[in-house]
Amino acid sequence: MPTTGNTAPWWRSAVIYQVYIRSFADGNGDGVGDIVGLRSRLPYLKSLGVDALWINPWYKSPMADHGYDVADFREIDPLFGTVAEAEQLIEEAHGYGIRVIPDIVPNHTSDQHAWFQAALAAGPGTPERERYIFRPGRGPDGTQPPNNWVSVFGGPAWTRLPDGEWYLHLFAPEQPDLNWQHPEVREEFESILRFWFSRGVDGFRIDVAHGLIKDPELPDLPPRQDTGHPHWDRDGVHDIFRTWRRLADEYGGDRAFVAEAWTDTPERLAAYVRGDGLHTAFNFDFLMASWDPKDLRTVIDDSLTLLSAVDAPATWVLSNHDVMRHASRYARKTVRRWSPTEPYRPDGPPDPALGTRRARAAALLMLGLPGGAYVYQGEELGLPEVEDLPESVLQDPIWERSAHTDRGRDGCRVPIPWSGRTTPFGFSPDGASAAPWLPQPANWGERTVQAQTGDKTSMLELYRTALHLRREHPALGDGTLTWLDSPEGVLAFSRGQGFTCVVNLSAEPYPLPEHASILLSSGPVEDDLLAPDQAAWLSA
Ligand code: NOJ
Repeated sequence: MPTTGNTAPWWRSAVIYQVYIRSFADGNGDGVGDIVGLRSRLPYLKSLGVDALWINPWYKSPMADHGYDVADFREIDPLFGTVAEAEQLIEEAHGYGIRVIPDIVPNHTSDQHAWFQAALAAGPGTPERERYIFRPGRGPDGTQPPNNWVSVFGGPAWTRLPDGEWYLHLFAPEQPDLNWQHPEVREEFESILRFWFSRGVDGFRIDVAHGLIKDPELPDLPPRQDTGHPHWDRDGVHDIFRTWRRLADEYGGDRAFVAEAWTDTPERLAAYVRGDGLHTAFNFDFLMASWDPKDLRTVIDDSLTLLSAVDAPATWVLSNHDVMRHASRYARKTVRRWSPTEPYRPDGPPDPALGTRRARAAALLMLGLPGGAYVYQGEELGLPEVEDLPESVLQDPIWERSAHTDRGRDGCRVPIPWSGRTTPFGFSPDGASAAPWLPQPANWGERTVQAQTGDKTSMLELYRTALHLRREHPALGDGTLTWLDSPEGVLAFSRGQGFTCVVNLSAEPYPLPEHASILLSSGPVEDDLLAPDQAAWLSA
């Protein structure tokens, strides 16, 4: 990778674009995104101005959870391409100055992984079963699961085999949990990291980083969680990541990890990135916050205070492939605070214009904050959640596992519209043999990259301009902020070097503080008044 004159490591300020590869760009016309499609869109990503790509799992997988059930970590799934194509992608992306960070999924494998198949074949009590978490059941004939743990996708976290033993899966039954107390599991993942580091990847996003270590006693979940949880965010995970950090440091070029770690408090999150631990962790508190000045300010302050105490940068995120897109979350008058333990249920029908206005302001807020940021594919197009997908097309395992009470995450995973007036909107090539794997709304012709390019009022041009300004302006990216006096309902902060960001979350227009010029605003500003749900970047 080319180096810049800047001496701070790239990951302290990077804008990382999340590629949900299944839905990004389909190169071979089978209705599913792939590496060939992604390679063809690198010029777009370059012109957007992102620093790196996080690519959701592309490994060989039966796709019970769209790739988060990995059967072979050293193979690319044929749906997406080949290892040779992955290598080409990495090289080409580097040629554009864009880094590449694949997902790694260490908490579980697919039930089709060679290790799990061997464990099934070998039977109870064999060493093959020790790489996973197998146990006899409870009750006189073992018909009750070993404990009361529940799957994140609904239902019990245990499945019984015909031979009588049960195995643990914190997600779908097709995703058996690995036993991270087993040295072979640790060695295998270190070897997988090396496999991909030596192919040039710049880091990894670590799936379920907070889940690897289970209480060896496997106790029942207590009715109230006062102290440590038996399988989430246990202290033992940090040992694993310290080893991974040392391993990454052996390679040149500032390889970096980002942890998907859901923790109860920002203090617990900071533990993942302190000292010799991981480089960064997603800041989900920002994503979960409501569109409320107090809530947002508290999250920003807590995150910055705790992360700066361990000298780690914040990484802000508004949307990803697991949550309702923020243009739709914000499209309700009252924005519900999200809690990861429940499906997100918005309040009332959406007001798309409101959602777009707030999403534009949120983009300037996020990109103006100290640290790095994640942009989920399509958020730069202002894509809403597709809330009305017909039940017959839903594919997320959550839909079945919740007995059709939770529609799951398909609504934020609809294939990207690139061009044209009708589906597949350039997602697949002309003459494709299959329709996009999820149907695209008929009106997405207005949302395509083609339709928005050059339109100064579009979400795409707002992101493009913001990302380019962010690269050029010395105040942006890594650093600190200073809150400025402002009425309740307005967030105003300075980043030094004459840069100020103002976000109006109140119901009244707000007169902008003194400034030499408006660098960028999320909507038209007249008479220096910032309208409700608008944001501006100012130069002193
Ligand atoms: C978190 C991922 O983001 C999600 O998509 C996946 O279903 C679970 N981990 C299980 O791997």
